[in-house]
Amino acid sequence: MNPAYQDKQQAAQRALVLKKEINRHRYFYHVLDQPEISDGALDSLKNELAAIEKKYPDLITPDSPTQRVGGAPLAKFRKVAHLTPMLSLEDVFSDAEARDWEERLRRIAPDAVWHYFLELKLDGLAVSLRYEKGRLVLGATRGDGLVGEDVTVNLKTIEAIPLVLRAPALKELRAIGLDQKTAERVQKIAAAGALEARGEAIMTKAVLAGLNAANQRAGRPLFANPRNAAAGSIRQLDSKITAARRLDFYAYSLPTDLGLEYHEQEHRILSLLGFKTHKENVFLPDMDAVVREHARWEKKREKLPFDCDGLVVKINELRLWPRLGVVGKGPRYMLAFKFSARQATTILKEVAWQIGRSGILTPIAGLAPAPIGGVTVTSATLHNWDEIKRLGIKIGDTIILERAGDVIPKVVGFLPRLRTGQEKTIRPPKNCPVCGGPVLRKDGEVAWRCLNKNCYAVNLRRLIHFAGKSAFDIPGLGKEIAAQLYRAGLVKDAADFFALREDQLLGQERFAAKSAANLIAAIRARQRIELPRFFIGLGIPQIGEESALALSRFILPRLKPLNKESTVKIGHLREVILAFTPADLEAIPDFGPIVAGSAAAWFREEKNSTFLSKLEANGVMINIPDALSRPVSAPLAGKTFVLTGVLDHLTREEAKAKIRELGGQISSSVSRKTDFVVAGREPGSKLAQAGRLGVKVINENEFQKMLA
Ligand code: IVH
Repeated sequence: MNPAYQDKQQAAQRALVLKKEINRHRYFYHVLDQPEISDGALDSLKNELAAIEKKYPDLITPDSPTQRVGGAPLAKFRKVAHLTPMLSLEDVFSDAEARDWEERLRRIAPDAVWHYFLELKLDGLAVSLRYEKGRLVLGATRGDGLVGEDVTVNLKTIEAIPLVLRAPALKELRAIGLDQKTAERVQKIAAAGALEARGEAIMTKAVLAGLNAANQRAGRPLFANPRNAAAGSIRQLDSKITAARRLDFYAYSLPTDLGLEYHEQEHRILSLLGFKTHKENVFLPDMDAVVREHARWEKKREKLPFDCDGLVVKINELRLWPRLGVVGKGPRYMLAFKFSARQATTILKEVAWQIGRSGILTPIAGLAPAPIGGVTVTSATLHNWDEIKRLGIKIGDTIILERAGDVIPKVVGFLPRLRTGQEKTIRPPKNCPVCGGPVLRKDGEVAWRCLNKNCYAVNLRRLIHFAGKSAFDIPGLGKEIAAQLYRAGLVKDAADFFALREDQLLGQERFAAKSAANLIAAIRARQRIELPRFFIGLGIPQIGEESALALSRFILPRLKPLNKESTVKIGHLREVILAFTPADLEAIPDFGPIVAGSAAAWFREEKNSTFLSKLEANGVMINIPDALSRPVSAPLAGKTFVLTGVLDHLTREEAKAKIRELGGQISSSVSRKTDFVVAGREPGSKLAQAGRLGVKVINENEFQKMLA
């Protein structure tokens, strides 16, 4: 016990200020995300309060921060009637359905004008919290919507739920657009009246992953998803178990009548009262903006730290709510605009082997058409033979398909109970599916390869890769044209592209004088090629865009350009690279022994050396782009940023200094040349400008990752 308090009265005084201070820091930490003091300092305040309460148990109040976990386990949950029913929402899955919903509302209220408030729809457990005189007195689950279960002791363990409401200042309430009378009323109800707040109790993906890892180690069953885990954690009779689950809570509504005009104000008030609300929730003028925002979230929802299954579209004007009313299970003035399902089931019809430019055979699942994530999927990669064995699938199985964001669909499992006995075992490939040549799987490798050095498919893939976007990027030389030239025998390898003549093309289908001249000109224009693109074009196993860049930077100091245009001969480049051993190349950032070994080996192979000489003979030369010569610590080189709104973890000046340090540039206005608009809290008109010009907008989190 701190000797500073001699008697009970002093201890009681101290306990009072400690409670207030702890609550204040809870608000900074959980609501504003801006802790003022460290976790350790906050813990010692809590410990001090606990010590006082231990000595004088009658000083314990139910709203004390020490009482988040307490009491003996319950025998069962008490039933409680909700003051206003907890409804649910109508779901829609497409833009068209969302627009239909708006049309229906227009017919009901043709004269009304409204806007939207758009919120993340978290997947957890809906919870209602009742406060009297500013103190949490009841926390209940939704139950059947009319009667729920009293889970107060469990909800008190969630730090994001205030036990005592924060008292907002009049100034703060006026700043969110309330008039004097309404602001005073809110203050009064918060401090002395009865107030109800609702929101979603959730478990973050990270907490669930930790919990499931522990469950697995202990041989306990795993939770299927964060929603089940949150619900299961709250419906625990022993609140100590709930406390250990580290749940989170976001508020989304204030059913108490406070005389507000807009739903958005409910969110602002919730935040001022000490609740967490999502910073991403936004006011939007119309359905077009809602549809756009939905499409944007559909792509990036996977990046959120919690499960989010859609957006809730709410009419912002509260005066319209009673007029639009409730129909069936939900209010007309709100809509759950769900994201497309990420999983679907379908039938595995066949497995085909596809051959890549390195001769590797990849198994591709042929599927009965399955609508998923807004597209119809008919094939999915199975990666390799080990994956097929791991999944244990057979042809004819009902498989589970997953497509997250823009990611290529993959097979994640199958339903064994739906087997009929007619399913067929999947066989490894016997021959190359294209050239029919022998295939081999080396010891320790997962992949089969076609052994035919002259495999049609491998050669063609190499040509396509060489001319492709990330490599030589020759316009007009796509898949079809490359295949046509290869079949006609005009090109056998990529070096032959540079020896092509117009008269050879003219005899070919699809070529007229103009298109032939265009293609030859396009090829000529790429005869002088940037070093990283040259490396990519060679198709060296393991060398992709990033590693080609790193390799280029590494050898740059050894290259002797021919002239001031920074031209380098291929033969010279080859000599420089051959001077490095595989071990030397491991000094390149992110090059391990496999990548370094692969690069070194490629240049030592005779057929590759012949190919390089042929490229040189056909006039190909290397060019060193300026950007390459800039220091490596310039990952943002050539990128222009515009900042808008308030950043939580950096000042404007700090953010600008960071960008410059990493080689980027800052501009004060958004134009087509802007690469990124960094949008903090309360962004200005620059955000809208970015939207109009299609400039990429990133939030503070994404920005921080770029700086890391
Ligand atoms: S408003 C009338 N806003 O989604 C129901 N609900 O089916 C009022 N949910 O059980 C709910 N995020 O728990 C609302 N921002 C949000 C929400 C949200 C998640 C949950 C809610 C409800 C379910 C609706």
